Amino acid sequence: ISSLPKENGWVASHLYKYQGFWNPARHLQGIMICQKNFVARDSDVFLVTTPKSGTTWLKAILFTLINRKYCPINQNHPLLRNNPHDLVPFLELKLYVDNQIPDLSNLNSPRLFATHIPFFSLPKSVQDSSCKLVYLCRNPKDTFVSLWQFSNKLRLQEMGSNSLGETFDMFCRGVSIYGPFWDHVLDYWKESMEKPHKVLFLKYEDMKEQPNANLRRIAEFLGRPFSNEEEESGMVEGILKLCSFDTLSNLKINRTGKLSSGEENKAFFRQGKVGDWKNHLPIEMAQKLDQITEQKFSGSGLVM
Ligand code: A3P
Repeated sequence: ISSLPKENGWVASHLYKYQGFWNPARHLQGIMICQKNFVARDSDVFLVTTPKSGTTWLKAILFTLINRKYCPINQNHPLLRNNPHDLVPFLELKLYVDNQIPDLSNLNSPRLFATHIPFFSLPKSVQDSSCKLVYLCRNPKDTFVSLWQFSNKLRLQEMGSNSLGETFDMFCRGVSIYGPFWDHVLDYWKESMEKPHKVLFLKYEDMKEQPNANLRRIAEFLGRPFSNEEEESGMVEGILKLCSFDTLSNLKINRTGKLSSGEENKAFFRQGKVGDWKNHLPIEMAQKLDQITEQKFSGSGLVM
């Protein structure tokens, strides 16, 4: 584990490098305890993202898809009363945080967990078992802007500073929460190419553009395509509407509630759009991110 030299300022002093990626101390401790103790089941489903790439959205979608006993158009659906983060726990930020070792053996299959852990740092049993990983990423310009806005709003030292320029330079050098961003994405991309039955690779932009087709893709990947009966009941449209930015961000629980970890639920809903970077990033910064992306993804077949 190596930390950045002190001269890089207070942001750096809160991030530590472990197995090639930067993490805040609390997350890192969670990752290590999880690596040591988590035992995957073949039926487990993991939702994996880089921070700010649509985790909240995907949590809502996967929860609804896996728990079809709750009808998405019913007024009793758990998503109407709970923030998605309270329904789908993060391994390293919730279950294994603060030295906890939870007993997960009582949970019914399929268990659904979320994580930001980079592919090669996942607990060994996740890599070795037949469990499934749904990976969602987002173009680095919107991801960076969303991260910067979020960290400023919550004043999260570990995520960035108040200066756009400083946070940007560090992001480009790979020093961001769970960064380097590009390495995180690339490792999961390669894995999805080699093992498409194990890793489903999704992009936020595609989900926005073709929500219906992508929802069906996820359902099929999980081995639970929609039945004729479900199709006829309007389940696909029901899930998309329930999990949409408009619906979730306007629910009382998400406008006024807080997570058990203290963050306000509304912090997870800002714009929910593709291309908001244009309102925040000077053109030189956008070009620099494009350049890095092109260079890092060159030859991989991945375009963003
Ligand atoms: P913006 O800051 O660009 O608005 P995460 O969930 O990984 O923390 O990512 C947060 C980003 O996803 C925020 O992006 C947020 O507005 C957006 N988001 C949250 N819920 C969404 C939804 N249901 N559909 C689309 N985007 C959503």
